[in-house]
Amino acid sequence: MSIKYPVYQPRLAGNEKKYVNECLDSTWISSKGKFIQEFEKAFAQQLGIPYAISVSNGTVALHLALLASGIGPGDEVLVPSFTYIASVNAITYTGAVPVFVDSCSRTLQMDPNDLEHRITTKTKAIMPVHLYGDMCDMDKIMAIALRNGLQVIEDCAEAFGSSYQGKPAGTMGTLSTFSFFGNKTITTGEGGMVVTKDPSLYQLAMRLKGQGLAEGREYWHDIIGYNYRMTNICAAIGLAQLEQATDLIREKREIASHYNYELQICDLELPAERPGIVHTYWMYTILVTDAGQREPLRAYLKSKGIETRPTFYPVHHMPMYASGHHSLPVADDISSRGINLPSYPGLTKENIQEICGHIRNFLTQ
Ligand SMILES: Cc1ncc(COP(=O)(O)O)c(C=O)c1O
Repeated sequence: MSIKYPVYQPRLAGNEKKYVNECLDSTWISSKGKFIQEFEKAFAQQLGIPYAISVSNGTVALHLALLASGIGPGDEVLVPSFTYIASVNAITYTGAVPVFVDSCSRTLQMDPNDLEHRITTKTKAIMPVHLYGDMCDMDKIMAIALRNGLQVIEDCAEAFGSSYQGKPAGTMGTLSTFSFFGNKTITTGEGGMVVTKDPSLYQLAMRLKGQGLAEGREYWHDIIGYNYRMTNICAAIGLAQLEQATDLIREKREIASHYNYELQICDLELPAERPGIVHTYWMYTILVTDAGQREPLRAYLKSKGIETRPTFYPVHHMPMYASGHHSLPVADDISSRGINLPSYPGLTKENIQEICGHIRNFLTQ
């Protein structure tokens, strides 16, 4: 059966084409051009943070944030095992060692109660990853970081627009990162952003992203930098997406409330918005009660034209990270039971009723 409901598809119905055509008409298609600064400025404004640095994707955003924080060989960084691989790989790129933390089964986020006993004399930073549009328990994480003199790098790839006690995702860490991959709440095709409140970290991250160019001297490079620049074309798309951010987030939240309503009587664990948190439901994620049900349910939905995704595999099981004795039972459990359901803008209440009708049929057959 062909796919009737993809798990995600972006909506590019605003000024994307107009702005991209401006890039083409003006020939400003590389990483110089007015949309870069306009997108960075508008993004920073949206978060209420002084500095935003556009980059070519969310993975290099993490690498840049870690480098600018001075993370390197000999350091340890605490990161959830239940996350997308990029969070962990970015730590490894710096030469530091990722130390895996377990997750909370109800929220799927990093478990702050599992953090502190994993801190050693080598620990330099915590990387909370706000998954699926929800937020980590930042009060507890920030308190642990403060007590132990650790930096916090928020991975907000999946949490654009979410907030914790009125603070937008990305505004609590020393440096924070976003992804604008095609399935993210706002997209640039491929793209990412690093944000910070610290002017010196901003300067350093800007230099690292642009080949370590020294100020005021052409072709003179005094640190080892990278080419992590975003193109003007991507920034043009990003600016147009940002103009629609309020609507995109409102729709995501409506989609989640339709799913919650339709699935409330089912024997499933559903996402919930906790007090003080704005959840943007990047991917609406359910947990089946028995891991054995997951693949049959996904196959059944596929036969009805409904695309789904499994939740992430815990990274500590992947071959390059599997040595060492990890005990992360919650990460193992939630990873085996989770399913992402279609969550794209334009999915209607009727579409969700149809999808949930199939889920209910499967669960009662
Ligand atoms: C939690 C998380 N971190 C990092 C990334 C990496 O972003 P990108 O794919 O833009 O490199 C992603 C997503 O794709 C992600 O979901």
